[in-house]
Amino acid sequence: MSASLIWITGASSGIGAALARTVPWDGARLVGISRRVPPVGEHLEADLAEPSSWTAVGASFRRELEGFDGDRVVLVHAAGTIEPLGFAGEVDSAAYQRNVILNSAAPQVLGHLFLAAARDVHAERHLVMVTSGAAKSVYAGWTSYGAGKAAIDQWVRDAGAEQEIRGGVRVLSIAPGTVDTGMQAQLRETSEDDFPKRQKFLDLHEAGRLSDADQVARDMWDLLGRGLENGSVVDLRELADA
Ligand SMILES: NC(=O)c1ccc[n+]([C@@H]2O[C@H](COP(=O)([O-])OP(=O)(O)OC[C@H]3O[C@@H](n4cnc5c(N)ncnc54)[C@H](OP(=O)(O)O)[C@@H]3O)[C@@H](O)[C@H]2O)c1
Repeated sequence: MSASLIWITGASSGIGAALARTVPWDGARLVGISRRVPPVGEHLEADLAEPSSWTAVGASFRRELEGFDGDRVVLVHAAGTIEPLGFAGEVDSAAYQRNVILNSAAPQVLGHLFLAAARDVHAERHLVMVTSGAAKSVYAGWTSYGAGKAAIDQWVRDAGAEQEIRGGVRVLSIAPGTVDTGMQAQLRETSEDDFPKRQKFLDLHEAGRLSDADQVARDMWDLLGRGLENGSVVDLRELADA
């Protein structure tokens, strides 16, 4: 039995892959949930924009946590998408629907399934959502992305308050800042017509001001040991400035 059991959605690239590579606990068992194969750990293949896939993820939580006697259980939900980039009312409707399901609905339902499966586990338990500054800032071209991140943040505040009353899982939402990943490359490739603030991201890239994903991942793992209030919504850039 591994002392730590960790699920990471979106473990196949970017921040999720960096989190998988930098798990701070020796001998941890890692399950990556994504469509593509993650760089390390086991793979639970799932297209999380299809609600039918959530059943298998919930079953994995229940199966592995029944009788779990290790030290630590963690779910990090890092899967997310900015596609389709463009204005509501103009982009492809099927792609828009997938964005809404992945960014808004999946974190809430998977979070619920994890809390249910982890309820009676006697171990340190963490549920971490990856959010974005887009939850609060206005970005034309990102309606469903920003709305999804805002939904995550409020879900975390409420779930954290609940888990303080009963449950005991530590719930946290982390905005990682602007990180050098495929998602950032997608932003730079989009037309200004669909994403009017594109130049800001070209400038950040040009100035070498995108954060390194592995460093961001280490900072995120570090936050789990900081004793933050349950239900906290934090931005790594603000913590670095504090
Ligand atoms: N990069 C940034 O500057 C930045 C800033 C703020 C917040 N974030 C957040 O950080 C998280 C990771 O983003 P990233 O920058 O690392 O982007 P990324 O490299 O594009 O990674 C996105 C991850 O999400 C997974 N994913 C996407 N659609 C999925 C689907 N339908 N089903 C299952 N998994 C899916 C991908 O896996 P598969 O394609 O293999 O399925 C991939 O592992 C996202 O939640 C994003 O919103 C990023």
